[in-house]
This record gives sequence, C-alpha cells and structure tokens, in this order.
Amino acid sequence: MNILVVGRGGREHSLIMQLEKSNKVDKLYAAPGNGGMGQHATCVDINELDIDGLVHFAKEAAIDLTIVGPEAPLNAGIADRFQAENLAVFAPTEKAALLEGSKSFAKDFMKKYDIPTAKYETFTDAEAAKQYIEEQGAPIVVKADGLAEGKGVIVAETKQQAIEAIDHMMIERKFAEAGTTIVIEEFLEGKEFSLMAFVHENNVYPMMPARDHKRAYDNDEGPNTGGMGAFAPVPDITDAILEYTEQVVLQKAADSLMEEDRPFTGILYAGLMNTADGPKVIEFNTRFGDPETQVVLPLMKNDLVQVITDVMAGNDPELEWKDEACVGVVVASTGYPGTYKKDALIPFSEPANNTFVVQAGTKKTDNGVVSNGGRVLLVGAVGGSLDAAAQFAYEYLHVFDSTDAFFYRKDIGTNV
Ligand code: AMP
Ligand code: GLY
Repeated sequence: MNILVVGRGGREHSLIMQLEKSNKVDKLYAAPGNGGMGQHATCVDINELDIDGLVHFAKEAAIDLTIVGPEAPLNAGIADRFQAENLAVFAPTEKAALLEGSKSFAKDFMKKYDIPTAKYETFTDAEAAKQYIEEQGAPIVVKADGLAEGKGVIVAETKQQAIEAIDHMMIERKFAEAGTTIVIEEFLEGKEFSLMAFVHENNVYPMMPARDHKRAYDNDEGPNTGGMGAFAPVPDITDAILEYTEQVVLQKAADSLMEEDRPFTGILYAGLMNTADGPKVIEFNTRFGDPETQVVLPLMKNDLVQVITDVMAGNDPELEWKDEACVGVVVASTGYPGTYKKDALIPFSEPANNTFVVQAGTKKTDNGVVSNGGRVLLVGAVGGSLDAAAQFAYEYLHVFDSTDAFFYRKDIGTNV
C-alpha cells in the first residue's frame, strides 16, 4: 500500500516509524513532514490545511490510505473531501470531529448521554460569565469553545484569574472566533490519564492508557505546554478503572455519535481525571494524542497498517500489547512555551536498541538537523518497567546537557 500521513509533529513521526515496520507498506509519504521523517518517508511540501492539494497528491501518487494527525484539517472537513473522491482515509468527518472542535458541543453531548464529566455552563456573554464566576468561586476552569492549539484552557486559582481569562477570550478575542463562546466548568481533582481507541462506528478497540505531562517544569510546575513527556502504561489506573472508562466513556461516545448521525471513524481520545467519584472526561480529542502516541505505539505488537485496515473493514484487529513500559521525554527550546530561539544544532547520538528519537520541531540543513520550534524532539525508551525505560531515555538525554539551547524535564516516568 502507498500511505500518506498528514502532519509535521512528533505524533506523525511516531506514526511513520510504526508504519515503516509493516510489510504491507510500499511507499510512505508525509505532508508536510519534518526534519526527521525524511529518513523513513518522502516528505511532500503540502500544508495540512491545503485539502485540495492533498486530494490532488493522493490521486497522483496512488495513495491507498491517508492517516490524519492534527485536529485542524479534521475540522476543515478533510475526511469528507477524501471520501467524496473515493480516497480511503482513517479520520473522522467534520461532523464527528466536532467532539473536539467545539467544547460546548462536547459538553452538551456528554450531558445528554450521561458520560461523566465536570459540571459546566456555556456563555456567549462576558458579563453573564463573570456573574457565574462570582457565584461559583475558584478554583474554576475557563475554556474557549473552539480549537486553540491547546492554549484555550485556563485553570483559574482565583476569581480574578478567571475574570481575566474571560476578558482575554471574549473581549480581547485572543483566540479569535474560537473564544466567542466559552465553557466554564468545575475544577476536578485527581490524577490525569489519557485513553485512546481505534474506532469505527460502534466498534471500539482501546489502546494502553498513558499519562501526559503538560506543565513545563519538574513536579508539574510552570506554564502549560503542548506536552513535555508521557509514559505508558499508568500503574495507578487499575484494570477496573480502564474497563469502566472503556464502557462508560469510549463505547458510549461511539454509540451515541451513531445515534446523533455522526458516525465516527478514526482515533477517539479521552483525556480523563481519575476523581474520588471515578474517572471524568476533561476533553475528547478526535485524533491521536501528542505525545501519548509516541509512548503507546511502541508497545503495540500488531502491524499498524493491518490494525487500521481491519478497523475500517469492521473487523476486530485483536490488539496485543507488550508486557513492557515506555517513557518519552520532550526536549524543548530554552524559553518555551514563551519566546525561544530556533536554528540550534541538535547533538544527536546513536540511540541504543531500546531507545528512539522522534522529531517534532526540527529542520534539516546542510550543517545538520537544527531546531525549528518549541518542542524539538522526544527521546523515548521501552523497558521492562517504567523505571527501566526512564533510565534508558535519560541516559540518552545527557547529550543535551552540553548546551543551554535546550531543556527537558527530569521526572517523566520516575517515582510514579
Ligand atoms: P485541555 O486543553 O482540555 O486538555 O486542558 C488542559 C489541561 O487543563 C488538562 O490537561 C488539565 O490538566 C487541566 N484541566 C482542564 N479541565 C479541567 C478541570 N475541569 N479540572 C481540572 N483541571 C482541568
Ligand atoms: N496530549 C494532549 C493532546 O494531544 O491534546
């Protein structure tokens, strides 16, 4: 098969690395790809949102399957367009992707179908929203309704912070249209975990759970980022919690989307808080998580191409998982998520057998691969335990200690 992966981040590099292992793959393409994907795939310079360009390329290159990484093209209707052209695509339609594209839609959907989540109200009027904050008090969570690249969520510790967040979103229009409607929700306490599943209509095949670390610095301190590292599986999330989440969150969501005439094909991702009252949904994503994908896929025994073709054909892919753990640590540009410099030379070394490097914000130049974004790459490792995997990853990470251009968290997958 000729396969096209749409996207340019660590998630897509990880997908490419798994797809490359399949003997079903003839040619592998990434659009637009990044500085690392060229080792495994042909990068074609087409933007993720240039759907016409992608359709044209898929026809020209006789692509048999397209896998979409990021959310923006899903919400722009990439799956609908590919389907209309009879091109196979593993991704939800625009209607189904609304579960990620609109937080108010997702919250109303969860309420209607009794999927556990934080209590909430939706607002289109800033004064009414502020009034609600006055009544509810803090801590409280303010969320822009639309897509905001993971930056549209403010966990406000004080009423003042919540009111400032409302001003940012609704008055200053910091997220443009995405923030004209907001959701204000109850602050949930507990440990977070992510559970992704391969989904086709009513069929739901969950993966291993993972835990993402969104804060920039050790001990979950500092500003929120796109994710500074992840590990899988998650020892404090028991089989009973997972079974409950599979049934009451993922299966129920897939079935309810069918009822709503929004049948889902692709990856359904639930971000959850394991509260004293059981797991509650923080968010749904309608795609592979980043960086969860980078630590979950290396634990999958199956051929990823076979899994996706089985799921799309309505067959059970019979997922099998290694009895091991995976830890992935993000190396970021110093200053991220604030301002940072690009074009720093990346000091790669040869990864040991169980260690791997997934690139994200990188660029290939004549002098070597250089940084080209905030989150530059992820160093991952598989081991017999989380501790063992973390030790392998951190051994490799020492190569970054000789430069102050980069930083990484020292506590991913350790002392869990
Ligand atoms: P999101 O962009 O929806 O994944 O939210 C970003 C982060 O904000 C999450 O990973 C949580 O750590 C936090 N968060 C979101 N909603 C809540 C909530 N209701 N209670 C507590 N923390 C939350
Ligand atoms: N890791 C969170 C996300 O992919 O949105």
